Amino acid sequence: MCGIVGYTGKKQAAPILLDGLSKLEYRGYDSAGVAVRNNAGKHEIVKTNGKLAVLSDKLKKGKTLKGTCGIGHTRWATHGMPSEINAHPHCNDDRSIVAVHNGIIENYIELKEKLTGKGYTFYSETDTEIATKIVDYYYKKWKSPVEAMVSFTLRVRGSYAIAVMFEDYPEEIYVARKDSPLIVGTTEDGSFLASDVPAILKYTRNIYYVDNMEIAMIQKGKATFYNVDRKVIQKKPVKIDWDLDAAEKGGYKHFMLKEMHEQPKVVTDTLNSLINNGRIDLSAARLSDDELRSVDRVRIAACGSAYHVGVVAKYITEDLARVPVDVDVASEFRYRNPVFGENDLFVVISQSGETADSLAALRMAKECGVKTLAVVNVLGSSIAKEADKVIYTKAGPEISVATTKAYSAQLIVFYVLAVQLAYARGKIDGDAYSRLIDEMLNLPSLISSVLSDDERLKWFATKISNKKDVFFIGRGIDYAICLEGSLKLKEISYIHSEAYAAGELKHGTISLVEDGTLVIGVITQLKLAEKSVSNLTEVKSRGAYVMCLTSEGNYSLEEQSEFTFYIPKTNAYFAPSLAVIPLQLLSYYVSAAKGLDVDMPRNLAKCVTVE
Ligand code: M6R
Repeated sequence: MCGIVGYTGKKQAAPILLDGLSKLEYRGYDSAGVAVRNNAGKHEIVKTNGKLAVLSDKLKKGKTLKGTCGIGHTRWATHGMPSEINAHPHCNDDRSIVAVHNGIIENYIELKEKLTGKGYTFYSETDTEIATKIVDYYYKKWKSPVEAMVSFTLRVRGSYAIAVMFEDYPEEIYVARKDSPLIVGTTEDGSFLASDVPAILKYTRNIYYVDNMEIAMIQKGKATFYNVDRKVIQKKPVKIDWDLDAAEKGGYKHFMLKEMHEQPKVVTDTLNSLINNGRIDLSAARLSDDELRSVDRVRIAACGSAYHVGVVAKYITEDLARVPVDVDVASEFRYRNPVFGENDLFVVISQSGETADSLAALRMAKECGVKTLAVVNVLGSSIAKEADKVIYTKAGPEISVATTKAYSAQLIVFYVLAVQLAYARGKIDGDAYSRLIDEMLNLPSLISSVLSDDERLKWFATKISNKKDVFFIGRGIDYAICLEGSLKLKEISYIHSEAYAAGELKHGTISLVEDGTLVIGVITQLKLAEKSVSNLTEVKSRGAYVMCLTSEGNYSLEEQSEFTFYIPKTNAYFAPSLAVIPLQLLSYYVSAAKGLDVDMPRNLAKCVTVE
C-alpha cells in the first residue's frame, strides 16, 4: 500500500512527481505529499490530507514548487490516522534529510525507544518518521548516505521501499528496498523511481527492479546499485511492453469500466501466451507434462478475488483432471502448519505479486521444500521472483482497486492448467482436449457479447442501489462465481453482501431473508440447477426479491425471479468467465448510481503489502 515516486533531472520535479503519484493513487489515497530541493538547496515539503487532487490544487499542479529533484508519496494509513502530520514525506528536525516510505517497520517501537534515548523527538504517529530518523542517526554517524542506507537496511525489520534525499548530496536520491515494490528508470534527461511501472512508463520502458536488501543511488541519468556489503552490483533493465495508454482511462469514466471492457483482449492475450497451434504450451513456465503427471496434490493460496479464482480452479481441476486441490486464504494458510506431501504443487495467485500474505505463504511452502508456481500479473514482482515457476497473466496494468480483468486472466490460466493436467494424466482424450481448447479460444467473443448487453443491468442497478443486504447463492462452480460477485458488490457499493453455498443457506442464514431482501441466484451448472432452483424457491417464498443469472435456454427460471440475466452457452467449466461479467457490471452500475468513488473505494488499496 502507499505509492512512492522520485525524480532527479533537468525538469521541474513537482509536476513529474504529481503525475507519477496520480498513476499510483490506486495504492492509497488518504493523504499525499512531496518534498523538493529548492533553488536555495533546502528541502521544501508540502503535504495535504485527502486525495492527491487536494495536493495538486495546493501546488497549482506543481508549478509553485521549484526544483529539479524531489520525492512524493500517496498514503494508505497504517500507523496513525490520515492527517497532514502523518502524511509523508517525513524529515529530521532541520529538514536536511527527507524520506517517503511504503511498507511497515515492524520494530518501530524498539527503534523509537532507542532514538528517544538519543534525544530525538517525534511529531507524527508513523513508523516512517522513525525510519527517517534512523537514517538521520546513521548518517550523522557515518557521514555517508550509502552507509546510512546500509545501516538502515541491517537495523530495520519489516517491509520497506524508502526513498531519501540528503541536503548534503544535491540532485541525488537514495533508496532501499525489502518486500515492498520499487523500480528505477533512467533516461538522459533524468532518473525516476516509483512503486510501480505506470508512474514512469511515459518516460522510459527500461526498468530496473530493486531487489530485497539492495540500495541504489539515483542521479541525473544514472543509477548505481549496491548490496548490503556496499559492493556495486550490475543490473540489467527489463523492457516493459505495456501500452502507454494501458494506465490511462482512455475515454472511459472510470478505470473499472475500461478494464472490464478490456477483458476480451486480456483473455485473448493470456490464451495466446499459453496455447500454440491449438495445443497448450507451458514451456515458458518450464512446466513439463512429466511434472504435471508427478503432482499428487495442488495447494492454492491467495487473497480476495485471486482466492476466488482458486476456488473455481478446485472445482474444475478435481472434476476434469482428478487431482486433489486445496484452496486456502493466504492469511490463514501462512499461520497454519499444513502437512505438505512430497509431490505437492503449491500455487500462489496474485495480480500485484506483492500481496504480503500471499508472499508469506509462498515463502512458507518454499521453506518446506515444496515445488512452487506463481500465477502473477506484474512482471518482476516479489512473488514472481521468488516462486520456482511463473505463469504470467497478460492483463496489463490494472488500476481500479476492484479487480476485473486480472481476475478474468487468472481464470484462463487455471482452465489451461486443468485441461493440461487432465490430458497429461490421461483423463481426457485428444478429441476432448481439442474441444476444450476450442471452447476456451471462443471465450473472448462470448465475453464481448455479454459486455454489450449492459443496458438492462444498468437499469436493474438503479432498482437495487438502496438495498441493505444481498445474498449470492449458487452450488459448485456457481458458488465460486458467487464469491466473486459478492466481493465486487460490497467493495465498491458498500452494500452488505454475502456469498452462500445455496444448500447451506437453510442451516441458519435464511433467517435473515425477509420481504425485499435481494437474493442473486447463479445457476450456470445444469447438473445442479434443479437443486439451486429449489433454494431460490425457498427464499422467494420468504419474501426475497430475486435476480437469477443463468445460461441461455434456462428460460423457465424467469418464474422464480424478478430479473433474469442470460449468459451465452459455453462449456460449464468455463462459465465463470461469462457469469462474472454481469456481476462486475452490476456492481459498477450500483456504485456509480450511488455516486461513489468506483476506482478508489473507501478504506481499500489495490496492493495489500501489509498483513
Ligand atoms: O494483488 P493480489 O491479486 O494478490 O490481490 C489480492 C486481493 O487483495 C484482491 O484480489 C482484492 O480482493 C481486490 N480488491 C478485489 O477486487
